[in-house]
Amino acid sequence: MPVPGPGYSITVRLEAPPSASAAGDLTSAVGRAGGVITAFDVVESHNDRVVIDLTCNALSANHAKDITDTLGQLPGIVVRKVSDRTFLVHLGGKIEISSKVPLRNRDDLSRAYTPGVARVCQAIAENPDDARRLTIKRNTVAVVTDGSAVLGLGNLGPAAALPVMEGKAALFKKFAGVDAWPVCLDTQDTEEIIRAVELIAPVYGGINLEDIAAPRCFEIEARLREKLDIPVFHDDQHGTAIVVVGALRNALRVVGKKISDCKLVVCGVGAAGSAIIRLLLKQEPGDVVAVDVDGIVHRDRPGLDENLKSIAAVTNKGNVSGRLHDALVGADVFIGVSAPNLFGAEQVATMNQDAIVFALANPDPEIDPMEAQKHAAVVATGRSDFPNQINNVLAFPGVFRGLLDAHARTITDSMLLAAATAIADVVDGQKLNASFIVPSVFDTSVAPAVAEAVRKAAAAQS
Ligand SMILES: NC(=O)c1ccc[n+]([C@@H]2O[C@H](COP(=O)([O-])OP(=O)(O)OC[C@H]3O[C@@H](n4cnc5c(N)ncnc54)[C@H](O)[C@@H]3O)[C@@H](O)[C@H]2O)c1
Repeated sequence: MPVPGPGYSITVRLEAPPSASAAGDLTSAVGRAGGVITAFDVVESHNDRVVIDLTCNALSANHAKDITDTLGQLPGIVVRKVSDRTFLVHLGGKIEISSKVPLRNRDDLSRAYTPGVARVCQAIAENPDDARRLTIKRNTVAVVTDGSAVLGLGNLGPAAALPVMEGKAALFKKFAGVDAWPVCLDTQDTEEIIRAVELIAPVYGGINLEDIAAPRCFEIEARLREKLDIPVFHDDQHGTAIVVVGALRNALRVVGKKISDCKLVVCGVGAAGSAIIRLLLKQEPGDVVAVDVDGIVHRDRPGLDENLKSIAAVTNKGNVSGRLHDALVGADVFIGVSAPNLFGAEQVATMNQDAIVFALANPDPEIDPMEAQKHAAVVATGRSDFPNQINNVLAFPGVFRGLLDAHARTITDSMLLAAATAIADVVDGQKLNASFIVPSVFDTSVAPAVAEAVRKAAAAQS
């Protein structure tokens, strides 16, 4: 059952009579309308009236309007203005550039800019690798999108994708000190995207592809990895895979099973599901059965595209066919990155004892977590209002911190697995239980641990 949250938070500025009962009337009205008050500030006081900023959380934009209407109907109350606090946060964008060097006088200017800068340019022209030492390339990542798969909202285009990319850049800085910059491309043509990224690459130490729809994202990433001498990482694929593999490692510790003995069902074989399957296979599970909108993926299924063919070739040992419900029978683990409400508690009951269910479709999971809990031993979702939130922010800041520090030119599966293990190991044996298989997204020890693991894995390869 959803609860009012800060994603729909409004501040209502209203005038009220200066009576002793006004505050009580207002707070009860918000409660009756189902809102949750988070602040009550008197901003002006007069003999005949007070002006109040009443801040509350709602369930949706419509619910916020209902709350405001309820307040406006109270006797003596005049609603002056309603501010949506989420929009206020976005006014003018969420990130900015600031200078790291003083520019107070002519001396400063001569070193940071002309004429001094010319010698640095010449040094880099002679030895291009010096760009990693003497420019922002050392610490800067491009967050590249074509806006074709923005959150769960679909193809919104490059301008509408910008608030997400800005948010991503803010997270990079906050959690790992990485300077990331949004690059929203006004094209959805594979060749144009590849060429555009190739052309801007000199500035960056890494490329984070974001919210680019499958199957185009697979080719774009693969070709850029071939062409560029900096790591290219599609977060929707590998960020998700890292956190899922880390979380599964701990979930299996909770139930005392080995992955080599387990049958894993992965539902959704798009950007996230394909990468999850490929990383899981590195750990030699008993079997993986992939399921998409057309049912179980098997070698004889007609119409498989290149991605599904390659998945079919390495999964489903028994080459079984059927629907999701068939796949779940006798499975130890369900991982969903697909669509909402696909099954219920009765299907979880057909899984093996001590089943693990990761229902990660956002915002509504494949199964209501409360239903899943009836028969599963461990349940995780992508939601912040439920234990065990699988969130990419546990992975990407530390991954790029490690890659940049190592001056890495590529990213490999062993780095991804090292990152997954590092996330899992932040939850030590004292803390581990069915409701705590992944650390909190605010645990500041996660990004340094992931960065160190990636640095070590990079060093082992060089
Ligand atoms: N919590 C997280 O950390 C996290 C991370 C990544 C993705 N996700 C969620 O996973 C979902 C998929 O993301 P994506 O980027 O891989 O999308 P995608 O569009 O690339 O892939 C979607 C996949 O789901 C399958 N699918 C759709 N409807 C289905 C159905 N009824 N039954 C079975 N399979 C079905 C499709 O065939 C496809 O294989 C989204 O809801 C996304 O929000 C969550």
